[in-house]
Amino acid sequence: MSALLSTHDLIAGYGDMRALHGVEISVSAGETVALIGANGAGKSTLLKAIMGVLPVAQGMIRLDGKAVGGQSPHLMVKAGVAIVPEGRRLFVGMSVEENLRIAIEHAAEPMGEPWTLERVFALFPILREKARTLVENLSGGQQQMVSIGRSLLVQPRVLLCDEISLGLAPKVVREIYAALPEISAGGVALVLVEQDVGLAQRASQRLYCMLEGRITLQGASSDITREQISAAYFGATHVLD
Ligand SMILES: Nc1ncnc2c1ncn2[C@@H]1O[C@H](COP(=O)(O)OP(=O)(O)OP(=O)(O)O)[C@@H](O)[C@H]1O
Ligand SMILES: [Mg+2]
Repeated sequence: MSALLSTHDLIAGYGDMRALHGVEISVSAGETVALIGANGAGKSTLLKAIMGVLPVAQGMIRLDGKAVGGQSPHLMVKAGVAIVPEGRRLFVGMSVEENLRIAIEHAAEPMGEPWTLERVFALFPILREKARTLVENLSGGQQQMVSIGRSLLVQPRVLLCDEISLGLAPKVVREIYAALPEISAGGVALVLVEQDVGLAQRASQRLYCMLEGRITLQGASSDITREQISAAYFGATHVLD
């Protein structure tokens, strides 16, 4: 599989503080990769660098063969990269439907079957029932569904998800993760940052582990062992074929 999105010796940080030290990851159309690692490993920073929120050099990010590093988040969205951010970031004081519609105004050109309000409601039926409810009156899981739905309505080719299961009850997490295959079936490349290692492994074809701004493990999710993961989490470099 050729990569749709890839990073190349990606270096990024905050002011003088370097948080990523030459990160290389890739994801193909229709593929799901998981990104795990301890708190502060640099997972969110990597997603922010890909989105253009942090400054990076042009060649450090390639999308469909083109060097796109250093573009503004707005242009990255237009190019087909969307993020479900840490903490959901919904617009309070606005209904579910209003939150979803905002994304439509900022959408990229759809590549396959376009995401519509109807299609998002079919994916998460509870959102249809709650369409006129203010987002602050939803449960955490429902809010996460709105955040995912909003990202889909920008018609992404690559969807970056930052800890979408965080703080949610197991039942809701299962519901949300059950929707992911439907998203990737349409050709969307998924990058899942996930604290739950077992869930990350089950939901992905390939897995990366990060530690202190570096990739310390990568391989097929079904082949990686718990021993390799714990070594990569806490210190030993291990790369599988
Ligand atoms: N806005 C910021 N300003 C300065 N340093 C930051 C900022 N955000 C993150 N960092 C630092 O960058 C490093 C990587 O943080 P990052 O948030 O990417 O980790 P993470 O893997 O997403 O962790 P978590 O699992 O806690 O979300 C950490 O040392 C963190 O303290
Ligand atoms: Mg994070």
